[in-house]
Amino acid sequence: MPTVLITGASRGIGRELARTLTSLGWDVLAGVRDPLTAPPGTRAERVDMADRGSVMALAHRLGASNQSLDALVNNAGIYDGPARRIWDVNVLGPLQLTRALEPLLSPGARVVMVTSGLGKLSSQPRELAKRLCAADLSLEDIERMAHEAPGGYAASKAAVTAMARIFAQRLQDRGILVNAISPGWVRTDMGGAGAPRSVQQGAASLLWGVQLPANGPSGGAFEDGEPIE
Ligand SMILES: NC(=O)c1ccc[n+]([C@@H]2O[C@H](COP(=O)([O-])OP(=O)(O)OC[C@H]3O[C@@H](n4cnc5c(N)ncnc54)[C@H](OP(=O)(O)O)[C@@H]3O)[C@@H](O)[C@H]2O)c1
Repeated sequence: MPTVLITGASRGIGRELARTLTSLGWDVLAGVRDPLTAPPGTRAERVDMADRGSVMALAHRLGASNQSLDALVNNAGIYDGPARRIWDVNVLGPLQLTRALEPLLSPGARVVMVTSGLGKLSSQPRELAKRLCAADLSLEDIERMAHEAPGGYAASKAAVTAMARIFAQRLQDRGILVNAISPGWVRTDMGGAGAPRSVQQGAASLLWGVQLPANGPSGGAFEDGEPIE
């Protein structure tokens, strides 16, 4: 049975993706702040993405139990709040978690970094776009940027998209495909009741990245399987 870790699986798009993958026969590790919120049929894994200690503790627990992962979906995210917290949850947490879990990823695993249409690099302020597009951009550069928090939600998602490109390069020798994927504007607590898309449509956009064939793309940004940059 393939195994996936999905963060932010308590509600919204992450919960729907967890439900779908469970029904497709996946062993789903639900990354949640409160284990009582894990969806039925999943294994709850406590993690607060804003807390480095909690993120590293999850990685250590999984490593200590020799858990391998066929997919990782960095879905947990926030839209509102102080810029520094937005970058902690949306950027630093996924960066630290993915880096710490690299040894546990199976050959040919899939990694989905959940981005947003608002995070298009082409829509960011020129200086930020220039930094994020630099050919020699490193994870350490993004970590430093997260401490600066240069902008709010849209900027943080642009950094997520850049981070997917870097992880794709780091993991390409092991056949691991890493992409930034947007769910579109979805009716969730974050997206609001007026959003045009259902959670099923949002989750389907992410599912595409989990189910990519071995010759699928890596390092790109997509929504519904179509490039968005
Ligand atoms: N909805 C949209 O229109 C839209 C559009 C583009 C991109 N996205 C992205 O899609 C992803 C899911 O969004 P959504 O609409 O499903 O949001 P949501 O309904 O607000 O759910 C957010 C999820 O993230 C979790 N989370 C928040 N802070 C966390 C933390 N510090 N540690 C661990 N988990 C935390 C929440 O857990 P708790 O229940 O514990 O709070 C919840 O499971 C996000 O990355 C979002 O940026 C959404």
